[in-house]
Amino acid sequence: MKAENNSELPLDLPHGLTLRQADQGDAESLLALNGELLGEDSRIEVKFLVEGGIPGARLEDFLVVVAPSGRVVSSLCLIEQELRVGRTHLRLGNPEFVSTLPEYRGAGLIRQQFAVLEKWQKERGLAISVIMGIPYFYRLFGYEYALEDFRAGYLYPASHLEKLAAIPDLEVRKTVESDAPALAKMYAGTAARADIALTLPGEGWAWAARNRELQANKLEDWIALDSGQPVAYARLHLRDNILTAYRFTGELAGQQAIIKKALAWPGLEKLGIGTVRDNPLSRWVAAIEPGRRPSYGNYVRIVDPPLAFRQLGPEFERRLAESNLAGLSREVELGFYRFGVGLTFEDGKLLKVEAKPANQDPRIGIPPDLLPKILMGFRSVEELARLYPDFEVPKDEDWELLQVLFPPLINMMNFFI
Ligand SMILES: CC(C)(COP(=O)(O)OP(=O)(O)OC[C@H]1O[C@@H](n2cnc3c(N)ncnc32)[C@H](O)[C@@H]1OP(=O)(O)O)[C@@H](O)C(=O)NCCC(=O)NCCS
Repeated sequence: MKAENNSELPLDLPHGLTLRQADQGDAESLLALNGELLGEDSRIEVKFLVEGGIPGARLEDFLVVVAPSGRVVSSLCLIEQELRVGRTHLRLGNPEFVSTLPEYRGAGLIRQQFAVLEKWQKERGLAISVIMGIPYFYRLFGYEYALEDFRAGYLYPASHLEKLAAIPDLEVRKTVESDAPALAKMYAGTAARADIALTLPGEGWAWAARNRELQANKLEDWIALDSGQPVAYARLHLRDNILTAYRFTGELAGQQAIIKKALAWPGLEKLGIGTVRDNPLSRWVAAIEPGRRPSYGNYVRIVDPPLAFRQLGPEFERRLAESNLAGLSREVELGFYRFGVGLTFEDGKLLKVEAKPANQDPRIGIPPDLLPKILMGFRSVEELARLYPDFEVPKDEDWELLQVLFPPLINMMNFFI
């Protein structure tokens, strides 16, 4: 029997299960669930969070479904993070560590917990929600791929080690705690060049240096040094005999030295490179390996559309000010068919954002599943209009405005610790 769609806690579910906020008594069972289903890397991450390791997530931000025995059989959590879009900073919600024991699956336990998270996010004014997660699943809860997780390609020891022979051998090693300030500085420098970036909590760098280890928990942070000075960083992920290096920061020469060392990993089949689109590293990888780019994506849900437009207001004003439409005064209604959002601009300022009713025949028609994609600049509006025939904007002046308000954006999104 499926659980009802209710978000008041605690909530009694069929078969004696209870859905509620986690408390101290759940910690051990919660860690066991994460270790068993999501892996040792997740178990240590959850341990760090529930012990208060970073701001934005505590034990009480975990939802648990508990069996009569006290065992946690399903869980997820809500982390608050900061996102920068252009020059605007906003808080977003990030559901994470989603898992259900195999014998309890298919009973709607995760769907039920997402209903609670939706309410929490609205109450906290978290208008935008982001998930880095398994393919397709989160679309069932209104999430859409809207932030590209760009992969520059694969490199292979047999064909690429030789091509890298001329690259200087800088010192490359696992990070240590005392690298933390340099790592944070390099990250901030690289993230500042992307249009959208997640702010990483400073506490994560030293924790990762202490705890992450490729053989023990799949992930490890590496740093490149030139004459003792930090010049580049990447995180390594090992699965079977495939390594992925991603989260690159710093300078190209140091990044290449990290890649050279990773390619020499004993028994390596191939090395995936994850980086920001259109940066020196991705262009260099494309030049030496013209093969496929196995990019993925992060999911986004706009939990509260008018609030999201309000929170992004300064960014819209900045885009207008830098365009042919500087000083714009007009009212615009974006019709998402099932709901609308009215925007009032005066002298280039966004004076008012208001919710509008559903309208089957709007002047500007945008299918609601496109809303996360246009807000996060997933693709240009031209590309999206080719894919979505119900993205209908007959008037040229409206189209010109959408091009200004919703440009394609390059992001730097990474797991937050
Ligand atoms: C994915 C997982 C969390 C689903 O848990 P669950 O409790 O079975 O989920 P629910 O019963 O609430 O499922 C909700 C809906 O998703 C569907 N669904 C469940 N797993 C799915 C999957 N892997 N892919 C697509 N749909 C899925 C269900 O059929 C259900 O659809 P419906 O509501 O339209 O009937 C669980 O299978 C799991 O723990 N997997 C291993 C860990 C993992 O991969 N976690 C995600 C990390 S990002």
